[in-house]
Amino acid sequence: MSPLLRDMTLADVDSVLRIEQDVHAHPWTRGNFSDALASGYVCKVYENDGAMLGYAVLMPGVGEVELLDISIAAAHQRKGLGRSLLDATMRIARDLKARRMLLEVRASNAAALGLYSEAGFSRINLRRGYYQSAYGREDAIVMERIL
Ligand SMILES: CC(C)(COP(=O)(O)OP(=O)(O)OC[C@H]1O[C@@H](n2cnc3c(N)ncnc32)[C@H](O)[C@@H]1OP(=O)(O)O)[C@@H](O)C(=O)NCCC(=O)NCCS
Repeated sequence: MSPLLRDMTLADVDSVLRIEQDVHAHPWTRGNFSDALASGYVCKVYENDGAMLGYAVLMPGVGEVELLDISIAAAHQRKGLGRSLLDATMRIARDLKARRMLLEVRASNAAALGLYSEAGFSRINLRRGYYQSAYGREDAIVMERIL
């Protein structure tokens, strides 16, 4: 497999939403993706032979980039694709002259926490009760990776 990274367009949002709704307990909405595109955030899809494997959304800031969403389709998880997509987002952030990448992750999201730790992210803050969850509120872990 030789996955390619390309810009997301509005025409991709249906396919993106199918993955998003499948892999997230609290998925982004169509409006979240179209707003991200309209705001000029860096929105990329990762695909192989025209089949969407995953996607990522980055919000550039001054000297830093925030990773807002990264997802790999369920059928393609645990094959190293999340790591290679994350590495690609860090290269994009460096090209944008960012010195660090930031993200927030649900405390219960073991897969994402494993991925980020393995990629050199470290925990810098905890936002108690930041997210809604099926059981009430859930903490957000804020992580940073110096680029
Ligand atoms: C998080 C996610 C992107 C990881 O993608 P992936 O392609 O499965 O990840 P990789 O195969 O590259 O795994 C890289 C490392 O992450 C960690 N990891 C991935 N899935 C894991 C899981 N289910 N449990 C624990 N650790 C996990 C491991 O350290 C793994 O390395 P290893 O396979 O050598 O043990 C994927 O699980 C996903 O799309 N989840 C739903 C969306 C989401 O939660 N996104 C993050 C918040 S926006």
